Amino acid sequence: MPIVNRVAEMQEEIAAWRRDLHAHPEILFDVHRTAATVAEKLKAFGCDEVVTGIGRTGVVGVIRGRKGRSSKVIGLRADMDALPIAEQTGLPYQSTVPGRMHACGHDGHTAMLLGAAKYLAETRNFDGTAVLIFQPAEEGGGGGREMVKDGLMERFGIAEVYGMHNYPGLPVGSFATRPGPLMAAADRIAIEIEGRGAHAAKPHEGIDTLLVGAQIVNQIQSIVSRNVDPLGSAVVSITQFHAGTADNIIPQTASLRGTARSLSPEIRDLVEKRLREVVEGTARLYGASAKLTYFRDYPVTKNHPQQTAFAAAVAAEIAGEERVDTNAEPVMGAEDFSFMLEARPGAFIFVGNGDTAGLHHPAYDFNDAAIPFGTSYWIRLVETAMPV
Ligand code: NI
Repeated sequence: MPIVNRVAEMQEEIAAWRRDLHAHPEILFDVHRTAATVAEKLKAFGCDEVVTGIGRTGVVGVIRGRKGRSSKVIGLRADMDALPIAEQTGLPYQSTVPGRMHACGHDGHTAMLLGAAKYLAETRNFDGTAVLIFQPAEEGGGGGREMVKDGLMERFGIAEVYGMHNYPGLPVGSFATRPGPLMAAADRIAIEIEGRGAHAAKPHEGIDTLLVGAQIVNQIQSIVSRNVDPLGSAVVSITQFHAGTADNIIPQTASLRGTARSLSPEIRDLVEKRLREVVEGTARLYGASAKLTYFRDYPVTKNHPQQTAFAAAVAAEIAGEERVDTNAEPVMGAEDFSFMLEARPGAFIFVGNGDTAGLHHPAYDFNDAAIPFGTSYWIRLVETAMPV
């Protein structure tokens, strides 16, 4: 069975919700209009429970199945937040907020899960409970972590949890996933270097933090190339270097910022350990000191095998087996659905967004043609996991 018929009929309505969200992007935890819109719609659809303020601005809708015999509870998660990017699409429904944009398609994720909520509340063709999770602050704020910390899983008795993200470059009507690590752990690197300021004409009287910083940036590149197993995966990128105020002053301090990505706990530990050694050792070599702050942010998004096989089977029912890649290449991007997958078994899946601009690009737009596939996936997931 391909697209759920009723979903095809709802396409225009769901797309209209999506475009309204697109025009009103909100970032991090400040998704007040979006969360209020979601809660209002969930109530209008007749959800049995609508709870707001979980993980600060998260919203949860509960829909109980027809018979109420089964105690099975499944969580479906969408993210609601946008990005601090100035939109350059020129679309009729483009962002009305300067410097804010739905450049990751979370408008589409929210709309598709709302579409599924409307259908599931109407039909209740399942035996169990569907918990629809709308989270804030996926983009760097750890909204998923906050919702889990706030007792999301225990409070609603969630046994399994599923997430979805659109994927530019993957054809519309296709899905991709894999058991095990699908997306990377993303950690933050901050390095503060302290030397000795001096007149630029008298370098011998100072300790040049710019030189030390440059050496650290270079040395760090040996971690992935020389310490990590070539068959493993890691990324270390230094993305900011701040130092100095004038042409003729050797700066007393310098600071570096960056990100470290990995797909396994062992490599994550190794990268942190080597970073510390390289940073401290290089600074010492030049008589400076340097302090690394390594903040472990999002963990690896690790799919549970059984739930992933189930998710792929549901996707295949909708898209056809040949359009579901069950052994997708992992990506080094990160996703805070990982916190939910640490709390409960489940699976994350990519849904094709077609030939669009990439995620986080100012010309990106969620592809409304993907709505029937994503929405049908959610619906069939619930109906298949908890049959009447
Ligand atoms: Ni995203």
